[in-house]
Amino acid sequence: AAGLCAAALAEDFDWTRNEKSSFYFGTFPTGFSWGAGSSAYQTEGAWNIDGKGMSIWDAFAHKKGKILSNDTGDSSCESYFKVKDDINLMKDLKLNHYRFSISWPRILPNGLRSEQINERGIKYYDALINMLLENQITPIVTLYHWDLPQVLQDKHGGWQNVSMVNHFNDFANLCFERFGNRVKNWITFNNPWSIAVEGYETGEHAPGLRLRGTGAYRAAHHIIKKGLVGISLTADWGEPVDASNQRDIEAAERYIQFYMGWFATPLFNGDYPQVMKDYIGRKSGQQGLGASRLPVFSPQEKSFIRGTCDFLGLGHFTTRYVTQRNYPSSLGDSFFVDRDLAELVDPKWPDPGSEWLYSVPWGFRRLLNFVKTQYGNPMIYVTENGVSEKMLCTDLCDDWRMQYFRDYINEMLKAIRDGVNVKGYTAWSLLDSFEWDEGYSERFGLYYVDFRSRSKPRYPKASVQFYKRIISSNGFPN
Ligand code: NOJ
Repeated sequence: AAGLCAAALAEDFDWTRNEKSSFYFGTFPTGFSWGAGSSAYQTEGAWNIDGKGMSIWDAFAHKKGKILSNDTGDSSCESYFKVKDDINLMKDLKLNHYRFSISWPRILPNGLRSEQINERGIKYYDALINMLLENQITPIVTLYHWDLPQVLQDKHGGWQNVSMVNHFNDFANLCFERFGNRVKNWITFNNPWSIAVEGYETGEHAPGLRLRGTGAYRAAHHIIKKGLVGISLTADWGEPVDASNQRDIEAAERYIQFYMGWFATPLFNGDYPQVMKDYIGRKSGQQGLGASRLPVFSPQEKSFIRGTCDFLGLGHFTTRYVTQRNYPSSLGDSFFVDRDLAELVDPKWPDPGSEWLYSVPWGFRRLLNFVKTQYGNPMIYVTENGVSEKMLCTDLCDDWRMQYFRDYINEMLKAIRDGVNVKGYTAWSLLDSFEWDEGYSERFGLYYVDFRSRSKPRYPKASVQFYKRIISSNGFPN
């Protein structure tokens, strides 16, 4: 990989090729919104309290062997019981917004609005929203951060079934009716790539299905049909290993299009990216790989979904170098083979804490510029950006995270100077929390949570002070 990366890292590239681009002193536009984020299943706990129904994540995490160390989100940070404490942490940070999600089964235990509305669940979100507003913290609310009511999976097949479009619609409308007088910023889906690929293709995430080659595409298709308000896409950046090699350039294009473009292109431009259609779209007479597995939007659907995003929520964590595929063929007709590429990391990148989260700040600026040029310079809220602990760090001195925030936020500032329309930034995450299949082994929090203690105390890591400084000076004044 060292040899392969050398070309892309050579000195004679322009700034977009220069990894060592210098630090930029400056401040963010007035009114720029600073926040931190969480999601319901990752933090609330109280999985069976006050009439909450079961979600696919409750069921999945309760199965042995699905989550590292068999961790579950049953109690997690107990945020359900600690609204006041958590808002005090946000106040201390002087956050402008807090991004959290509503648990669908907490307010619709049977999944369906027509069956039962759980007023106690609604009361919890009412209290949270009211207290945020009393403290001048704007709520940014995600409707779906992966915790589908288990009954909808059992009875209807979850996102494989087009009926989910209506069920989600009912749930969303209920949220708009009950909270819409106070909540003005909505995110429909969080990271649909993961919902589709990890939920229905690899099975690493709930509901844990392995419907190879079709499941992810069908799930994604049903999710896209409900794009409203804003959606939050998680997108890493893909950089060609050799930027003068056409095959690498095309591989990097596929990396991005089979990731962010899969969702962003329909919502902004009305249809799937051309390269997805070329690779897996309808071609008469073809079998297997290349035969049509990508669902098709009707002309009415195309015009309906086009422009349904008022803003783009962007979750971004890391970057990969991309080259032509060299996967083992055992992957069969899977989503990963469809993209026909291989991902590499540069051995010169510092060793990350987790398996995957390399700090590559310049990739963030390129991604933001890509969004600007591809989708007509939409309004962007960064809905997630952050890093997990390098080592199991209990001394609260997380200089790795401070560096990450400084460098990524600085690249975002440069992107704004490039003309990208970024309105807000959400550090991921406020608290250490349940990191899906990794359980509690990956800590993303600004605040350390002691999960061994029943009261789940929170302790500020050094990055709290650091982020606070960035917020109070609105950037990096000279
Ligand atoms: C994206 C997911 O939306 C979020 O829930 C998760 O914690 C982060 N990635 C970090 O992996």
